Amino acid sequence: MTNGLPPLKELKEWKALEAHYEKLRGTHLRDLFAADAKRGEKLALEAAGIYFDYSKHRVTAETINRLCDLAEAAGLREKIEDMFTGEKINLTEGRAVLHTALRAPKNATVVVDGENVIPHVHAVLEKMEEFAEKVRGGHWKGHTGKTIKNIVNIGIGGSDLGPVMAYEALKHYSQRGLVFRFVSNVDGADFAEAVLDLDPAETLFIVASKTFTTQETMTNAETARDWALRALKDKAAIAKHFVAVSTNAAKVSAFGIDTDNMFGFWDWVGGRYSMFSAIGLSTMIAIGPKYFREMLAGAHEMDEHYRNAAFEENIPALMGLLGLWYNNFFGAQTIAVLPYEQYLKRFPAYLQQMTMESNGKRVTVDGRAADYQTSQVYWGEPGTNGQHSFYQLIHQGTKLIACDFIAFSKTHHKLGRHHDLLMANVFAQAEALAFGKTAEELKTEGVKDWLIPHKTFEGNRPSTTMLLDELTPAALGRLVALYEHSVFTQGMIWQIDPFDQWGVELGKVLAGRIAPELESAAEPELKHDSSTNALIRRYRASAGR
Ligand code: F6P
Repeated sequence: MTNGLPPLKELKEWKALEAHYEKLRGTHLRDLFAADAKRGEKLALEAAGIYFDYSKHRVTAETINRLCDLAEAAGLREKIEDMFTGEKINLTEGRAVLHTALRAPKNATVVVDGENVIPHVHAVLEKMEEFAEKVRGGHWKGHTGKTIKNIVNIGIGGSDLGPVMAYEALKHYSQRGLVFRFVSNVDGADFAEAVLDLDPAETLFIVASKTFTTQETMTNAETARDWALRALKDKAAIAKHFVAVSTNAAKVSAFGIDTDNMFGFWDWVGGRYSMFSAIGLSTMIAIGPKYFREMLAGAHEMDEHYRNAAFEENIPALMGLLGLWYNNFFGAQTIAVLPYEQYLKRFPAYLQQMTMESNGKRVTVDGRAADYQTSQVYWGEPGTNGQHSFYQLIHQGTKLIACDFIAFSKTHHKLGRHHDLLMANVFAQAEALAFGKTAEELKTEGVKDWLIPHKTFEGNRPSTTMLLDELTPAALGRLVALYEHSVFTQGMIWQIDPFDQWGVELGKVLAGRIAPELESAAEPELKHDSSTNALIRRYRASAGR
């Protein structure tokens, strides 16, 4: 398999960036801002409802041009078109990659294997809407005739992180009479705590799994079925208390869920790109079809921007390129995602799967070991909490960490000074990181000499500030699509397949082998390494086996 391109580091555009980096690496943001009074306005873009200020990055106009040249040389423009038009760009799995089709309008055409997929997308959306309205309206009754009030989504990875992130992000728009819980971990505590105060007669489980074979999800779903049937005492209750979201109708029906109560999607929707598909059923029940459609429209707006804008004016392309600039030239290892919006508290966790399961690859699509870094580590917490936790390291530690600040001009809660203070903090952090505080400034403030090194902030720490109007469903759609396309931009330049995830397989296989060794009554013959063998023996002994 080949992508038809020379190795990345042999591209002349890459070499030009290496040379450019050597010239720019010592330049301070203080000097870049001093050299151009309008830098803060010039190095900012506005599209699809996002004001994207990248002026506090260690770049010049030349850097941006050279990064965009690299994107062109890497064939990004054609690859974007290939993705949008349903080419099988997930090379190792031979699949199209069409999360963008999930938010395309009804009159769009996207052909996969000779068939337009858009009517299928909209048929599922309509089925979801009908079901969501029934639950929201109190018309979906449980087996005993009680109204369903609790919705428990059982899924893991993309079948959990998107739903829980979107529920938290859009709680303000949710129907407050309904209770939503999300169970993902195979640790029984997750299920036990989620249902502790719920009445089975009023509870609906959404079993969300693309494959319907994932060990954690199937274990939780079986436990949920036992829990419900223990109380409801009739197998017929499953039809009222369980629905499935999956691509695997045979497994759904083998589990006992009527496929009439199944919401389908397709192999061209990756797990970590699935929150706009039927995997978003819990989101739609929470916020209702109208807001769900607005979220899709927001994502579509970002899709159009990514597909059509020149790279220099293309927010997702620039975001991806800036990340690559620090990753591959400055040697930075991580990116902090710092939303100044409490409702986005699960957004960094959601992005971890999207970014790292996508681009955490060490070989290129043609099987060569990449001789350059691929995905950064993504992490973060909402501001201002992070400021009183790990920001110290970002400000004064020895590591270079580029930050994504995400903020909203409007709040859902106008409470005294809260929002002004929140915004003052986000602007202040980006300013402090970029400009720091010099020894001279400290001296003029009368700080004692011996304390000056400790109180000095060297600055020159890069960040993007994304300013949006308000955290609406559309804004969330735009933000998610922005990061998706930034990940795509990087993956294409790194010549990897961002849409497979072979790296999670080995652990699954080994867990499948170890589970019976933990559970068997007879002493198993252990053939692992000495560490794993000893751990298994210790566990068996403490479990009395
Ligand atoms: O972690 C591996 C993975 O396949 C993810 O890509 C996916 O989102 C998750 O497991 C859950 O898979 P499924 O939806 O098939 O249960």
